[in-house]
Amino acid sequence: MATTTRGNWGSKIGFILAASGSAVGLGNIWRFPYTAGENGGALFVFFYLVSILLIAWPVLIAEASLGRFTGKNPVGAFKALRPKGQWKLVGYLGVITGIMILSFYSMIAGWTLGYFFRAITGKFSTISGANARRVFEGFTGDTFLQLLLLGIFILMTVYVVSRGVSSGIEKFAKVLMPGLFIIMIFLLIRSLTLEGASKGLAFYLNPDFSKLSPRVIIDAMGQAFFSLSLGMGAMITYGSYLKKDENLPSATSWVAFFDTFIAIMAGFIIFPAIFSQGMDPAGGPGLVFEILPVIFAKMPGGGVFGSLFFLLLCIAALTSTVSLLEVASAYCIDEKKWSRKKSALVMAGITFIFGIPSVLSYSNIKFFKALPLIKTSFFGLQDKLWTTFALSIGAFFIAIFVGYIWKSANALKEITRGTQKFKYALIWSISVKFLSPLLIILVLVMSIF
Ligand code: PFF
Repeated sequence: MATTTRGNWGSKIGFILAASGSAVGLGNIWRFPYTAGENGGALFVFFYLVSILLIAWPVLIAEASLGRFTGKNPVGAFKALRPKGQWKLVGYLGVITGIMILSFYSMIAGWTLGYFFRAITGKFSTISGANARRVFEGFTGDTFLQLLLLGIFILMTVYVVSRGVSSGIEKFAKVLMPGLFIIMIFLLIRSLTLEGASKGLAFYLNPDFSKLSPRVIIDAMGQAFFSLSLGMGAMITYGSYLKKDENLPSATSWVAFFDTFIAIMAGFIIFPAIFSQGMDPAGGPGLVFEILPVIFAKMPGGGVFGSLFFLLLCIAALTSTVSLLEVASAYCIDEKKWSRKKSALVMAGITFIFGIPSVLSYSNIKFFKALPLIKTSFFGLQDKLWTTFALSIGAFFIAIFVGYIWKSANALKEITRGTQKFKYALIWSISVKFLSPLLIILVLVMSIF
């Protein structure tokens, strides 16, 4: 059923790199450490790994097979298999979630860009634990600068997306992903050899069961979906560019492996660094932006390592923002028959508008800093709403759709098409029909009470 005119990945490795580029992002290097820090370190890591294995991996294969079979964006994919009925709403939810996540994700990506410029121009050489928070607040509170950085990052994303699937997304991922990995190895060696690194390792590796609560589990599951770019059809869209004869289970499993590996590795970089300076790991979204510049200022060669670190974050963010924009763009290209450039530009414009209130969450306008009634910032609300809830709900419906409507036996035919063999076919069917949806519902209900 797939069309070939929409573009394809040039090779299996092209898909693996592009999909890993989508998965590996700020979620791994910025969000994972601070969420783990807030949820008791190793305990969170444990539930995160369990979520990846039991809930997220089956959904990843479900999304990619749905995408490859239909050759469509999320809305088109549901429509192709169930033209009547409301299943397409799950696709629309995905497109909207993508735009919403992109709007605040690009703000954080803008921070990484700003911090990269600061690091490379030596601005952090005099920063200390006492003024790091003020520097961060001064930076995020500069609304004009923030809007500029947001705009620049969105435009960079538009540039890659409008170049197309293989000559844009795939080509950039092929250069950026290995670059990211090399930078991480440098940083890992530096961090593990810092004095006092072992305290960070203890926090990261020894679970503290007294911290066990429903919140740890829901945050771990939300993080697993966010990190693997699941629940909003990014992997349906990327799967739709996968050639019929490629080995789908192996390609997707590599993506899950890389993503998990990089998140775990980021923890090995961040926690030793934090504890070596006696700082608090539960520092929230500002964690890497407040603490790391201080550490870089104190360590030999910190200017170079600091610049490398923020460059790393920019790269990781860009290959992910590209996939967020690609979902909405693919929808416009397939369903509205717009050109790729127009699709990317229009969707980017909408994203920018929704990014403005998130930027204002850091200004001194009280309304956006603490919304009436709920008292969280607009940005905090967006993150909770779309990352934790929308992705989990999306993933739930995708699992149900593939398990019962399209039917897992049909999905398996697609999954094994280029492969003949899929060792875990039975486990996968059980997961997608029972385990994933049940666990998602359980965790969501738990989070309400
Ligand atoms: N997986 C990305 C990260 O971990 O940073 C974020 C993301 C990208 C989420 C694409 C969802 C998505 F569709």
